[in-house]
Amino acid sequence: MDNGQSLLEKEAYTSLEWFKKEQALIFGNTWQFAGLEEDLKAPGDFLNVQCGLQNIMVIRGEDHQLKAFHNLCRHRGAQLLRPVGKSKKVLVCPYHDWVYNLDGQLIKVPGKDEEFPGLDLSRICLHKASVGIWRGIIWVHSKPDAPALTTWFEGLSSHLGPHNPERLIEYPGTNYDRVVNANWKILVENYIDVYHLSHLHSHTLKMYDHTKAVFGFKNNHFYFHEPLAEIYQAHLDRLIPYKRIAEMTDPHLGAYVPWLFPTLGLSESECMWNIFHLEPLTPETTRVRIRTKMEPMSQAEYDKQAQKSEKSWSKIMGKGTKFNSKSEEDPFASWDFMEEDIYACEQQQRAMNTPLPIHVHYAAHREKPIVSFQQLIRHWLTQANHSEETPCLIFSSDTTERFLGNTQHGGHIPQVYPLSHIREKGKQ
Ligand code: FES
Ligand SMILES: [Fe+2]
Repeated sequence: MDNGQSLLEKEAYTSLEWFKKEQALIFGNTWQFAGLEEDLKAPGDFLNVQCGLQNIMVIRGEDHQLKAFHNLCRHRGAQLLRPVGKSKKVLVCPYHDWVYNLDGQLIKVPGKDEEFPGLDLSRICLHKASVGIWRGIIWVHSKPDAPALTTWFEGLSSHLGPHNPERLIEYPGTNYDRVVNANWKILVENYIDVYHLSHLHSHTLKMYDHTKAVFGFKNNHFYFHEPLAEIYQAHLDRLIPYKRIAEMTDPHLGAYVPWLFPTLGLSESECMWNIFHLEPLTPETTRVRIRTKMEPMSQAEYDKQAQKSEKSWSKIMGKGTKFNSKSEEDPFASWDFMEEDIYACEQQQRAMNTPLPIHVHYAAHREKPIVSFQQLIRHWLTQANHSEETPCLIFSSDTTERFLGNTQHGGHIPQVYPLSHIREKGKQ
């Protein structure tokens, strides 16, 4: 099958109009990645996350449960909390010092008797949103009556790795946080493009057998898994760059790389568990953040295995870069598949601005996920029941537009880093 033409026009990747529509209809109506469960350990720890046009705060309550509210004071809509913080006892709005408890209930209004004699505090609470945990990840949804997370991810678990992310450790200094010059959908399409693995990454991802990849969609989400390449598996003890994940027993070995709609990729391998999060910033820029967790290990264990792997790698797996370039600037000389991907995505984004018509030809099987993803985008943008709710302020509902327009980035900034950077660091 030659699909002939993209289901999405060029403007889908370049125009502000498309971008705003997606913010309202996709990101305002789906579960969004907010952080890892351990980011909010103690009562009063909080973070903010942008769900389309709405900024949502997640806070751990006195009862140790996570709660989610719109980050919007019920007085006149000021943002209550900064992006990330710890140990709040109460929530105090910086504008006029209205005070809420950790359940979102208004408990104090300065000058109440003179200024707001009729105001019944017990009737005023922050607007509720939804929060849940799935696979050690905190998810938020801007609606209080969001579908259950178990429903949202239904049927996906059997396609994921056996990893238990709650048990794995995120090491300091292993983060990755970068703005890429490409529309977020180009990055997704690259992530779910099975065809490019043996070509763009012919030297950097040879530890997996792409010919045996199993992939497809389960509802809104893409799943993908492939076994280790025979040679890599045969010498795994020597080649594996970091301690093997305990759950990755022989029958499970391989890479599990699902895309969770709309903006979170997972990459679950024999020695790492990564999240790959996209935050669309503008129609043509996207922030990419990667966080990596690994098996708990000492520094000595870490160094020993990394050195062993480095020493054996080129002997067993062969060396060489795609174009044998020696330039540090060249993404193909980096031994880093992320650099290769980013190069390809940024070039594709540039192509969106060419006056030439772009007639695309999608591979019938290995690029089919791209077509399915574009169908999904169309589906979410045309569903009739998607109406953006207007948060209700108490005294100035005519200012709602102003607050809806506040797309100031409020997400917490995680400590992140890429699988590829770790994997390849030792090999340069
Ligand atoms: S106290 Fe929050 S806007 Fe006035
Ligand atoms: Fe890639």
